[in-house]
Amino acid sequence: MNVTIETERLILRPITLDDAEAVFKWASDPVVNKYMIYPLHKDISVTREWLESIDIDNPNEYEMAFVLKETGEVIGSGGMYCRTDDNRWNIGYNLRHDQWGKGLVPEAMQGLIDYVRSTREVSVIRGEFAKDNPKSGRVMQKLGMTYVGDCEYSKFDGSVTFPANIYERVF
Ligand SMILES: CC(C)(COP(=O)(O)OP(=O)(O)OC[C@H]1O[C@@H](n2cnc3c(N)ncnc32)[C@H](O)[C@@H]1OP(=O)(O)O)[C@@H](O)C(=O)NCCC(=O)NCCS
Repeated sequence: MNVTIETERLILRPITLDDAEAVFKWASDPVVNKYMIYPLHKDISVTREWLESIDIDNPNEYEMAFVLKETGEVIGSGGMYCRTDDNRWNIGYNLRHDQWGKGLVPEAMQGLIDYVRSTREVSVIRGEFAKDNPKSGRVMQKLGMTYVGDCEYSKFDGSVTFPANIYERVF
């Protein structure tokens, strides 16, 4: 959706083709990509293809660039996606490696969740993270989400499957 959201340190706005070079920095980084569902971007054309596929007008999809106010750089992205008719929203996110550990993703996602809740019905937010990726679990805990069960997910190319936890927050 075409919205702009401001938090203490970040501006969230729709991610676009103009962000390809910034996105490629983390999408091509094996450390960031390890537990993401999308395969490593080996060429920036893959990044461009993804950015072109985003429908900015889809009311059930918020795919946001995280812009660091201090520098104006796009340092990560994340989103909320509703693919059900009972207002359950999935969340996802990733951040450039040099920005980890500053609480930026919890700040961004809290801002996004607050915004979406102020304009849409949100009954549940839901996320899955690999059991070997507890950093992402910490983000979900900071968003008030708790463990509801186990699952597994595979990368889109089927190259690896991760045992995972499901976390949710009910509103
Ligand atoms: C998971 C991720 C989004 C966290 O974002 P972030 O803005 O760094 O989040 P936080 O600063 O709140 O850190 C979350 C936890 O990660 C750990 N962590 C973060 N940076 C770290 C670092 N450099 N070294 C060690 N641990 C670190 C800490 O345990 C921290 O929890 P704490 O604040 O209770 O100590 C980020 O690490 C990332 O983009 N990872 C790769 C992509 C990914 O895994 N996405 C989620 C897929 S489900």
